[in-house]
Amino acid sequence: MANYQWYPGHMTKARRMIEEDMRLVDVVIEVLDARIPYASRNPDIDRLSQGKGRVVILNKADLAERSATEAWIRYFGEKSIPAVALDARKSGVSSSLSPAIREASASVREKLRRRGMKERPMRILIAGIPNVGKSTLINSFAGKAIAKTGNKPGVTKGKQWIRISKEAELLDTPGLLWPRFEDPAVGEHLAMIGAMSDDVVDTETLAVTVLGLLAERRGSVLRGRYAIAEAQSDAEASSPADNGPGRIDPDEAFAAIAKARGCLRKGGEADTEKAAAILIDEFRKGVFGPLTIEYPPKEDTAELSGEKAETERQSGQRK
Ligand code: G4P
Repeated sequence: MANYQWYPGHMTKARRMIEEDMRLVDVVIEVLDARIPYASRNPDIDRLSQGKGRVVILNKADLAERSATEAWIRYFGEKSIPAVALDARKSGVSSSLSPAIREASASVREKLRRRGMKERPMRILIAGIPNVGKSTLINSFAGKAIAKTGNKPGVTKGKQWIRISKEAELLDTPGLLWPRFEDPAVGEHLAMIGAMSDDVVDTETLAVTVLGLLAERRGSVLRGRYAIAEAQSDAEASSPADNGPGRIDPDEAFAAIAKARGCLRKGGEADTEKAAAILIDEFRKGVFGPLTIEYPPKEDTAELSGEKAETERQSGQRK
């Protein structure tokens, strides 16, 4: 399921289900999209997973810039949440994750020991907003699973667990989380990567946003791919350090894309709507190379006002 539209009924159900799941587990693996770790994060996750071991996965790391992903790993590390960059479709997921899971479950194990309880496998929930790769991740785990365990009387009625090691077992259905709704930039970023229903976003508006990002960050590749001519004034404004001239005229760009891809309406007119859809699709597939949309906040140049405020609040508390 690539897209999802959140109605109040969905929200209530998702909240109830995640709260139920949380009661069953020791560790929560929160899956984020490495291109937009802020927008793909659930706003209530800290409260929902209180008292649990936490791991963050920066999934689809193959589509994000490595240095940015490393910066995000440090960012979460500073919050004492082990974070791991991953391509969930690849093998070796389990071994990449086990140190983080062990780290996250240390305090839970310690609590069990202090209560004089027997060592038991840590129970893990994979959670995240739609389309971040939760099911793919579970399948990768299940591929190497030692055994699938059935219902456990009294503890996990109706739930299936996948034994992934001697120390850990995974709930076989992911927890569905919702994104932030109040921040328009979040909606835009979710739409860009296709984590939101395409019915609720206007394709051409979205394509202009994608075009703007690509013009700024992958100008030469963009122009080369679709044979978009350089606008005179832009060419003059460009500097050698640039990735290509910054501004591209959307009308000209979509006409060029339509021409390059043979998208013509009856009568030979360029089908710019189809061109817009092609641009979005290719961007989502990563044909312009790894591209991170959101960077972790820095002291002075926070790109994400919400995170910046959060960071400042936290540093305020530390003082
Ligand atoms: P979900 O359960 O969180 O909703 O996500 P799911 O596993 O269904 O994955 C959504 C899409 O993302 C799938 O593409 C999947 O193959 C892809 N995906 C998952 N992990 C990674 C990753 O690490 N890197 C890349 N590049 N892609 C990943 P799909 O089958 O094409 O589905 P759709 O997008 O057409 O719905």
